[in-house]
Amino acid sequence: MTADGGSARFEARLGEIAALTESLLDRLFGPGPVEGERARAPRLLDAVRYATLGGGKRFRPFLVVESAALFAVPQEQSLMAAAALECVHCYSLVHDDLPAMDNDDLRRGRPTVHKAFGEATAILAGDSLLTFAFDILARPETHPDPAIRIALVLGLARAAGLGGMAGGQMLDLEAEGRFAAAPPKMDLPDIEQLQAMKTGALLRYGCVAGAILGRADESARKALDRFGAIIGEAFQIADDILDVEGDVATVGKATGKDAHARKATVVGILGVAKAKQKLFGLIGEAERTLAPFGPDAALLKAAARFVAERRA
Ligand code: IPE
Ligand code: IPE
Ligand code: MG
Ligand code: MG
Ligand code: MG
Repeated sequence: MTADGGSARFEARLGEIAALTESLLDRLFGPGPVEGERARAPRLLDAVRYATLGGGKRFRPFLVVESAALFAVPQEQSLMAAAALECVHCYSLVHDDLPAMDNDDLRRGRPTVHKAFGEATAILAGDSLLTFAFDILARPETHPDPAIRIALVLGLARAAGLGGMAGGQMLDLEAEGRFAAAPPKMDLPDIEQLQAMKTGALLRYGCVAGAILGRADESARKALDRFGAIIGEAFQIADDILDVEGDVATVGKATGKDAHARKATVVGILGVAKAKQKLFGLIGEAERTLAPFGPDAALLKAAARFVAERRA
């Protein structure tokens, strides 16, 4: 496959998975209530739908579905896990944008959830999305074997929580120097750790979830785990480069904010040119990690290149 052919196929597949994720989320966030719920508060449901529908690249769902496809997992199952991960991701964005966090007004080309609905509703929408992710994973449609569902739940809990995304967000805010007289000294390994947690953990989980659903053997699972970790590292470096070089209309969120907020980023420490070198080095490493899967992993390889080349 040529590089161009690979990226065209990748983009078509990303679009397909995005549309399938969108319609699944639309169905899951129907008026309800479902068994065990009393009622779905209309204002909260509106905010949850606003936060999840009608935007986003759906790159994490892509990772789940395509990692699972390596093991011929039925797509109805992998899409459920993909939707769960996207719920956690969307919650992380809603809370990340809050005035107490990054204080952003624009997300996915629209006003952020707290701008559209107010802070209290945005906090509750985030809470609902995080919880709902585990509701999705616990359903038999996600996988008929409860042991697989528990493994999915455990993996997502660890990726999202104290030692994962939420923990990384804490380190990110601490690194700005908000909680001390002066910002702490952050060297490259500290920043890599912070980014592996705030961003890498969820992307990595996307790949590991595919391996869990597919009952992958130890070596396949390790390869996907490593691939996800590298992609996760690359993804945040690319995001930080877009903050410097991107244009608001294309990225759909404010740019030029990281330096102003004194965020600890790889770009901040290395500069854009060296950060790009590092980024492309990581993509090569990610591609090599997929070698054991041969041509079956062509779309995942194209996904790695997309991470470095994306404009949004
Ligand atoms: C943005 O993630 C937040 C980061 C972790 C860098 P995405 O770039 O995947 O955002 P959407 O989902 O496409 O809007
Ligand atoms: C993303 O970091 C981390 C999470 C949302 C968990 P950023 O704060 O850089 O993401 P953007 O740039 O606001 O999307
Ligand atoms: Mg942030
Ligand atoms: Mg932010
Ligand atoms: Mg950013």
